[in-house]
Amino acid sequence: MNTIAVIGAGTMGNGIAHVFAQSGYQVRLVDLSEEALANALATIEKNLQRLLSKGRIEESTVTETMGRIATSSELQKTVADVDLVVEAASERLDIKLKLFAELDASTPEHCILATNTSSISITQIAAATQRPEQVIGMHFMNPVPVMKLVEVIRGYSTSDQTTTTVLDLSKKLGKIPTEVNDYPGFVANRILMPMINESIETLFHGVAGVQEIDTVMKLGMAHPMGPLQLADFIGLDVCLSILEVMFEGFKNPKYAPCPLLVNMVRAGKLGVKSGEGFYDYS
Ligand code: CAA
Repeated sequence: MNTIAVIGAGTMGNGIAHVFAQSGYQVRLVDLSEEALANALATIEKNLQRLLSKGRIEESTVTETMGRIATSSELQKTVADVDLVVEAASERLDIKLKLFAELDASTPEHCILATNTSSISITQIAAATQRPEQVIGMHFMNPVPVMKLVEVIRGYSTSDQTTTTVLDLSKKLGKIPTEVNDYPGFVANRILMPMINESIETLFHGVAGVQEIDTVMKLGMAHPMGPLQLADFIGLDVCLSILEVMFEGFKNPKYAPCPLLVNMVRAGKLGVKSGEGFYDYS
């Protein structure tokens, strides 16, 4: 493993590019939007400067890490000689299926195709390629430079060799990987999203206010953020779409999204990224 392509320069993509580059890998960050690429580089530089100001890294680490990241808006040319792709593009099945078929056609035979999806089936994505044994989930948590977990998800056909390579690689990034199987929500979101949904139900039924619900969970259960603040941080649209995948996948009403969540997403109140969710960020 030497050269890694990260597809998608959003919050997750730039965090993933950051940790690979800081761990010594050559990174190609790919996005259709030049503006997104420029913003991603600025964010990575800002996060490295933060580490520098706290004395966690040397000045040379900032320069070397930035020097290992190349950006591109041309997918096919950029992935022609990479060893691993980590896809962190939009959470839409149609986009991922098209992308993985393209990646399959454009990457070298040995290349592992990983997806950072938070809820879409790895098995379904893998079926869009001719190398399903080399397709795997590599689910990083936000903020990627801070959070220790990588949820490594085996699709139906993912090989032992691919899994071992990705588990070892995650450790080389300073992360703690956990191997799980490919069922809706995997493990992280299968447990997290019902908690977030239940906190929204609790608000919806007037049991307590936003602050009170978050305070109970922060101070009572030692969570770093309350579930409503965390929902705002993740994005209410993302929470809704993960719940819908689990509701559809298990056909179990316990995953049915709270009507308040549905309404807020319809109203464009998506949390931090839209400036308003359960809290006001304007
Ligand atoms: N990038 C890099 N570093 C960051 C950062 C970012 N975006 N945000 C915060 N940090 C760093 C800070 O520099 C600080 O570092 P030091 O400890 O070295 O000083 C550290 O993180 C703590 O930051 P702050 O003191 O500013 O703030 P905080 O103590 O409130 O922590 C937090 C912020 C790390 C985000 C913390 O609130 C937290 O852990 N929240 C929960 C996050 C979480 O649950 N993430 C998973 C979401 S689910 C997901 O990602 C998957 C999915 O599929 C939905």
